[in-house]
Amino acid sequence: MEYRQVYDSWKSDPEGFWMDAARQIDWERPPSRAWFDQGPAGEWFADALVNTCWNAVDRHVEAGRGDQPAIIHDSPITGTRQSLTFRDLRDRVARLAGALRARGVGKGDRVIIYMPMVPEALEAMLACTRIGAIHSVVFGGFAARELAVRIDDAKPRAIIAASCGLEPGRIVHYKPLLDAAIDSAAHKPDFCVILQREQAIADLIPERDHEWQAFQQGVMPADCVAVEGNHPAYILYTSGTTGQPKGVIRHTAGHLVALNWSMGNIYGINAGDVFWAASDVGWVVGHSYICYAPLITGATTVVFEGKPVGTPDAGTIWRVIGEHGVKSFFTAPTAIRAVKREDPEGELIGNYDLSSLQAVFLAGERADPDTIQWLEDRLHLPVLDHWWQTETGWSIAANPFGIEHMPVKKGSPSVAMPGYDVQILDDAGTPVPTGTLGSIAVKLPLPPGTLPSLWNAEARFRKAYLERFPGYYETGDAGYVDEDGYLYIMARTDDVINVAGHRLSTGAMEEVLASHPAVAECAVIGVADALKGEVPLGFLCLKRRVETGNDQIAREVVALVRDRIGPVAAFRTACVVERLPKTRSGKILRATMVKLANGEEVSAPATIDDPVILDEIAAALRDAGYPRQQG
Ligand code: COA
Ligand code: AMP
Repeated sequence: MEYRQVYDSWKSDPEGFWMDAARQIDWERPPSRAWFDQGPAGEWFADALVNTCWNAVDRHVEAGRGDQPAIIHDSPITGTRQSLTFRDLRDRVARLAGALRARGVGKGDRVIIYMPMVPEALEAMLACTRIGAIHSVVFGGFAARELAVRIDDAKPRAIIAASCGLEPGRIVHYKPLLDAAIDSAAHKPDFCVILQREQAIADLIPERDHEWQAFQQGVMPADCVAVEGNHPAYILYTSGTTGQPKGVIRHTAGHLVALNWSMGNIYGINAGDVFWAASDVGWVVGHSYICYAPLITGATTVVFEGKPVGTPDAGTIWRVIGEHGVKSFFTAPTAIRAVKREDPEGELIGNYDLSSLQAVFLAGERADPDTIQWLEDRLHLPVLDHWWQTETGWSIAANPFGIEHMPVKKGSPSVAMPGYDVQILDDAGTPVPTGTLGSIAVKLPLPPGTLPSLWNAEARFRKAYLERFPGYYETGDAGYVDEDGYLYIMARTDDVINVAGHRLSTGAMEEVLASHPAVAECAVIGVADALKGEVPLGFLCLKRRVETGNDQIAREVVALVRDRIGPVAAFRTACVVERLPKTRSGKILRATMVKLANGEEVSAPATIDDPVILDEIAAALRDAGYPRQQG
């Protein structure tokens, strides 16, 4: 079948399409039907009984794949490699799940996981789903305060963490961050489990903290607990427009069905293949394509602790692909830009045997045509952009390589996947003509695997996604569709920016800046960056009679963002200005400031209060070195 036939078969019978896809999953009780008109946006396979861990691990052992590697851990930072078979993984996960259960963790309890890229992070996720506990993984590059916000929202019974993460040339001590987060959070977990890594052995707090091995000593392994199809498998927090992140919920059954479908049909991966997504378990890519999808399919997943450059060089990606026989590789364009900067001719590629590789998939940010071209010229393989979000958990638009390798149009993530009726709407919610820019929305219902609501925040879910365009899910992205049905994703319609493939909220950064005692008013914008796609840039208006120098205050707010949000925000520059450009109704003209910083043509908006302020902003930007030379 070709893509068009597959898409049409979904469109003509969505229920039948997803019930058919559901046949690939092992059910304790199969769903009686696919779609349930319940909850704020509907639910999938709600009356089924099923277990995620069984489908990702145990069933492959039962089917004779017990000796196949499930996880290959490759850490150029520690210089180690480790392989875990499906049987090893089952035994380890069952033991950890048993230990959690023995300490009172059960179905519906939340467990926060704060771990770097080690196999134990996946084991912790799977141990939770094994007993019906709901995990919430927090990315290691976030500061203690971000962790505390998530602790207070998810109210975990337990936290599973590692003593440290390893960044090139730097040990990130997780344990002090964890302790500080628990101290400042109103909610306290019953206990913590700490994986001690030899690079930094953490002090444990008696009674509360348990060392990973000791915690599991002598416990009865736990069997898989079947849960309802609409039981949350996990909560993953993502950036919104404020400092309060949104807790995206993932229901169990839809997650299993959609990810399993995507693996074969989008990535061309089947049981026994090796798949590598070079992201982090703290992001949605890590949840879907480092942990769950490859394992559900019975493929081997590569867990990589390193960076595309500097660990030790720009050949690392090619080494890992060659050494482990990776068939499909998934990364963010920024990683390839980093490689290209260090090894412009791609000479290091020639040092490795990449014959196993069939395609490279890019997502997380817009894939610029230069990056795609550079890879195509050197690998002579399909390089495929695809577009999705934490909220959807899998591709809204992709080049469905496993069905048909469709012609690539650089700058487009290709076409809508089955389940997604993508429409481009104007401000009144009316579909616009082909080629016209508008808000990208998906006609409800969303497909299986996508968010049914936000944790503890149904009203916010409705407001953020459903209210602006009744009958649609609002993606927060703007773009257009061409005459062949190819989508083009051009910009966000909100205050979210994308820094090195990491989704961040400028609103959250503004809240931090505004908390500095000398700051009267502030704005944070995302400006173009040749490596990271975008980086944040702050503007500060100071209170009268501030004694401290401007440079000192700028340094202090940079340190404050690193301390409150984390190093991953990559917030390095703040400009002190007299006034911010605003409309007469008081709205800060952020989009105009972005254009000024990027060196684009700017005409003062008709609604501007005082156009002279734009000259002041341009002067401040010049002092800070903007616009920058790109490329
Ligand atoms: N734990 C602790 N700190 C972390 C971290 C983690 N898991 N991940 C990143 N950081 C820190 C980095 O050490 C860096 O700190 P610094 O300011 O002290 O240098 C800061 O956060 C910014 O990190 P990053 O955005 O990764 O920038 P970088 O300059 O270290 O590396 C790239 C640049 C392009 C090589 C890197 O961003 C990359 O590999 N990106 C791939 C994108 C990706 O995986 N996206 C996920 C979505 S698909
Ligand atoms: P996240 O929730 O972190 O996965 O970020 C999702 C957002 O990243 C999307 O809403 C887009 O703004 C952006 N994004 C992800 N993939 C792409 C892509 N292939 N092209 C353009 N933007 C993308």
